[in-house]
Amino acid sequence: MIPVKTIEWVGDAHGCARLIDQTLLPNEVRYLDVTDVATMWEAIKMLRVRGAPAIGVAAAFGMHIALRSAPSQSHAEFMTAVHEAKHYLDSSRPTAVNLFWATERITKLAANASSSSVQEIKASILREAQLVLDEDVAMCRAMGEFGATFIKDGDAWLTHCNAGALATAGVGTATAAFYVAQEQGRSFRVFADETRPLLQGARLTAWELQQAGVPVTVITDNMAATVMAQGKINGVIVGTDRLCANGDFANKIGTLGVAILAKEFGIPFYVAAPSSSIDLSLSNGSLIPIEERKAEEVSNGFGRRTAPEGVDIYNPAFDVTPHRYLTAIITERGVVRAPFEIGLREMLKT
Ligand code: MRU
Repeated sequence: MIPVKTIEWVGDAHGCARLIDQTLLPNEVRYLDVTDVATMWEAIKMLRVRGAPAIGVAAAFGMHIALRSAPSQSHAEFMTAVHEAKHYLDSSRPTAVNLFWATERITKLAANASSSSVQEIKASILREAQLVLDEDVAMCRAMGEFGATFIKDGDAWLTHCNAGALATAGVGTATAAFYVAQEQGRSFRVFADETRPLLQGARLTAWELQQAGVPVTVITDNMAATVMAQGKINGVIVGTDRLCANGDFANKIGTLGVAILAKEFGIPFYVAAPSSSIDLSLSNGSLIPIEERKAEEVSNGFGRRTAPEGVDIYNPAFDVTPHRYLTAIITERGVVRAPFEIGLREMLKT
């Protein structure tokens, strides 16, 4: 069912993180074996590994890679290296909270283990990173079970960007619903927004759904209003990079427009959010740091200049959708409906 292994650890503690280089898809399937932390930082920054949960897994393995040969004389000396590694990996991308959640998890593990030897702590870091991956697989599956209940025979669903297997270690967050519904024998179609400027919808979502045999139609982002107006869409499901306490959430640029359209056309709009993407420390979406990326992603898309030389370009990579546009939040523990803050806090209590 899962068409691809996005990220995995290969070998023992001296081994490598193997990830599919997503910048090359759909034209080439090539794996990158990461053995040093600078290469992991670059892979996250350049979107070779991307999508919030996959970034979290990559960062967890990145911590192990950074620390496996760190000084081992004392716990204090090792903790200096832990903080440096966290600080470095955290600087790769600002929006997906999974990155900070994963590096924090490893940092806390090391900090709380002062009675263990540094060698023991190093071994436990790799085990923890693998646990981050394993838990992600389980969370994806659970979100898929909940999400699939909304998909009926004959439906067509729209998604934006790639919140798929390629964005996680498992079956994806938003696309998990599609994979589980397919497994349960329902027939439906997915419309994938192309997702300018880096085309994660056309390059990645369309690729993985096609590999899995889920019928998929690619549209350019500016066609979403028309397909909705034509009555072709029964529901929308997207992923998130960070969902706040009140339910506001960041996702790939263009998600907000899709949410507004869905409301206008009376179409249910869901976000799939594993607990690793939920940031209850932020009360609302205005507090989410939004990554701005380089102008060339807009002006020199894929090998050719499409805007005049020297023209100003604005390239925010994410937008924030206010919770009022949400029908429900799909988490690995269940479906949360408004009022979201009460539901989210209740759900994350244990
Ligand atoms: O810039 P990207 O490709 O990392 O952006 C990814 C998204 O916006 C995804 O929708 C989000 O991370 C959720 S992935 C399950």
